[in-house]
Amino acid sequence: MGRIGVLISGSGTNLQAVIDACDTGEIAGEVGVVISTHPEAYGLERAKKHDIPSFFIKNDEDVLSLLREHNIDLVVLAGYLRKITREVIDAYPGCILNIHPSLIPAFSGAGFYGMSVHEAALERGVKVSGATVHEVTEGLDEGPILYQETVPVYKEDKPEDLQQRILEVEHRILVQAVADKIRECSK
Ligand code: GRF
Repeated sequence: MGRIGVLISGSGTNLQAVIDACDTGEIAGEVGVVISTHPEAYGLERAKKHDIPSFFIKNDEDVLSLLREHNIDLVVLAGYLRKITREVIDAYPGCILNIHPSLIPAFSGAGFYGMSVHEAALERGVKVSGATVHEVTEGLDEGPILYQETVPVYKEDKPEDLQQRILEVEHRILVQAVADKIRECSK
């Protein structure tokens, strides 16, 4: 059974989607550790409810040792607001995924995170937006794209409306990508 490490900074609805898909067997794996950059991230509560070891980290250097201690095969950045270190990228080649709430390369890279992504999309007047799952490499939001799905943008949308519509897509494509990757990364 493949072991998944999920890195978060916030609410953790994507983390929850991965946990649930492991429970139903859609993902042939289990979440072995949850690591948060924020001590009060609700995602830490979600981990506790499922008896998953969870940690708040102050230093980036702690990430790799926690992943190793918990025998993690695949790393998932699910709303993780820090840049992952070179050491982690080198230790998990092709086995780190990120979920981003836009159609990369639109509204991605430095400064595009959280609500600012949706605000920028609405400001630009795009008619479609969406979500992207990609492999993580050195450049921010730059690794190979694995899954991408669009959602419509409506004239009356507020950033929160767009965020909610995209989150539903995120949960689905993140689960698909993890289900694919866990086989490859746990060999
Ligand atoms: C998601 O929109 C994700 O794409 C972005 O941060 C948000 C995290 O949401 N990177 P959640 O914590 O999974 O609810």
